[in-house]
Amino acid sequence: MCGIVGYIGQEDTKEILLNGLEKLEYRGYDSAGIATLNGGVNISKVKGRIATLREAVDENIHSTLGIGHTRWATHGAPSKENAHPHQSTSGRFTIVHNGVIENYMDVKNEYLADVELKSETDTEIIVQLIEVLNNELQDVNAAFRKAVNLLTGSYAIALIDAEDENTIYVAKNKSPLLVGLGEDFNAVASDSMAALHITDQFLELMDKETVLLRREEVIIQDPNGKNVTREPFTAELDTTDIEKGTYPHFMLKEIDEQPFVIRKIIQQYKNEDDQIKLDPEIREAMKQCDRIYIIAAGTSYHAGLLGKQFIEKLANIPVEVHVASEFSYNMPLLSEKPLFIYISQSGETADSRSVLVQTKELGHPALTITNVPGSTLSREADYTLHLHAGPEIAVASTKAYTAQMAVLAILAVDTARAKGLELDFDPMQELAIVANAMEALTDQKEALEELAKDYLPTTRNCFFIGRGIDFYVGLEGSLKLKEISYIQAEGFAGGELKHGTIALIEEGTPVIALATQKNVNYSIRGNVQEVEARGANSMIISMKGLNKDGDAFVIPHVHDLLTPLVSVIPLQLISYYAALHRDCDVDKPRNLAKSVTVE
Ligand code: M6R
Repeated sequence: MCGIVGYIGQEDTKEILLNGLEKLEYRGYDSAGIATLNGGVNISKVKGRIATLREAVDENIHSTLGIGHTRWATHGAPSKENAHPHQSTSGRFTIVHNGVIENYMDVKNEYLADVELKSETDTEIIVQLIEVLNNELQDVNAAFRKAVNLLTGSYAIALIDAEDENTIYVAKNKSPLLVGLGEDFNAVASDSMAALHITDQFLELMDKETVLLRREEVIIQDPNGKNVTREPFTAELDTTDIEKGTYPHFMLKEIDEQPFVIRKIIQQYKNEDDQIKLDPEIREAMKQCDRIYIIAAGTSYHAGLLGKQFIEKLANIPVEVHVASEFSYNMPLLSEKPLFIYISQSGETADSRSVLVQTKELGHPALTITNVPGSTLSREADYTLHLHAGPEIAVASTKAYTAQMAVLAILAVDTARAKGLELDFDPMQELAIVANAMEALTDQKEALEELAKDYLPTTRNCFFIGRGIDFYVGLEGSLKLKEISYIQAEGFAGGELKHGTIALIEEGTPVIALATQKNVNYSIRGNVQEVEARGANSMIISMKGLNKDGDAFVIPHVHDLLTPLVSVIPLQLISYYAALHRDCDVDKPRNLAKSVTVE
């Protein structure tokens, strides 16, 4: 979702901002812009890609202070007019903003009745409000702080004042924002990737704080204007982690990285005695709870459905899995000693965060499983488990999904052992087998590309069926396919199709069936026959040992419980090739954002 980058230093800022915005492209956006200050403010903005913005930026303008933005439309259509930066009426103040201002109509009615607005955005309200308050207070910092204190909702803001070439005003509430520190410069960015080309030193910001970002200093203030001190942290990222290298797309690179990620997880979660290494407080929280509530969205929700299987089957604790955006407004009756597990690749998903805020208020413990340890969900939960997957840039989540399942499996086994349960399951050994199986599959790209060409060349829709844990993998397969290829895809429990959806099966409708579970192998194959009898073009993906003649693809044998980590790989690759052959923008599918920071 929207991204911010700002720089104040000695270098010409255009390239620093454009480079930073390119690093934020993965978050999803539909327009972009920058503003630079040198004697006057110069704004370039476009609807569309950063490449178009590059062409629009005047090369002859030089400046050492600027702010930039990628916008994912919430208030107002994606257009040049609604793209950021936005300016106050006099042109003195220029702003970029991420998030959603919930009370923007109230602010408009109360403070801006006489102001003529130029855009449809809630952002313009903020910059106009700052101008009105500054006219009254004659103190920009006081006006800025007063303005943000009047706002409700989520925001990350960077503001420049045409009359001050030594300050960027920064504020944050609920939306992610970091300050980047340098020798004779400072920066601000939605995430560390956007500033990694200039620094690896960052300061976290807390909600409702404001910052005066200057070349030689960074002053963080609380909502009352009191200075706050904070130690920087070093971003543990390598710039090569966020490059495509020789790959045509990040998604393909990230699919290929999965075996390494699983091996990294084994390494990170094992001690010298080959035992599971886990924060003892997490172990205790798992042991003490009487029910687990997993909260997540999208692919992370699908990983949660499988996490439920691991935890219930191995650790014998009841688990409920909830879609974050629903739970927030429709909280079920909770058990006496609940433990909340938030699963989120980005750690910034606003729907999940909103539940976390509610459950913290109720006093319930929270564990976040995330790929970004410094993220909001990680900071605000009591405990964090890190995925160690490395940055995931493609909008379609792949390696984070399999990493989430691996970490959930380790957590389930650790809890079972802590409870004294006897288990005939060594997660590290089984995950090592999974990593090898993944490698065998990523080596079979040509075969999977052929399957994508044979089954999905021009289809309008596609169904995924499975039973038991295969059903959950089918849900993930269908999400992958629809989000990047725009084929309407749905996942169903094998037995459920005939209760309605089978009416949609026509001559040639693709149906992808997963058959990796012994106890349902017979029945899922029966479901395939039912759809074939009605003309479906079916494809069975089975596991070695359960396969039959005619199966389209056979995955290597792994432990029953861990098959999702492996069976999803052909689905990821089939989706990738289906999207590629339809000329879709694989890494940046339309309308989607990587990090969904608005509810
Ligand atoms: O960062 P999160 O894991 O919280 O994100 C949740 C979903 O937005 C995300 O999984 C989304 O569904 C992906 N685009 C799926 O590929």
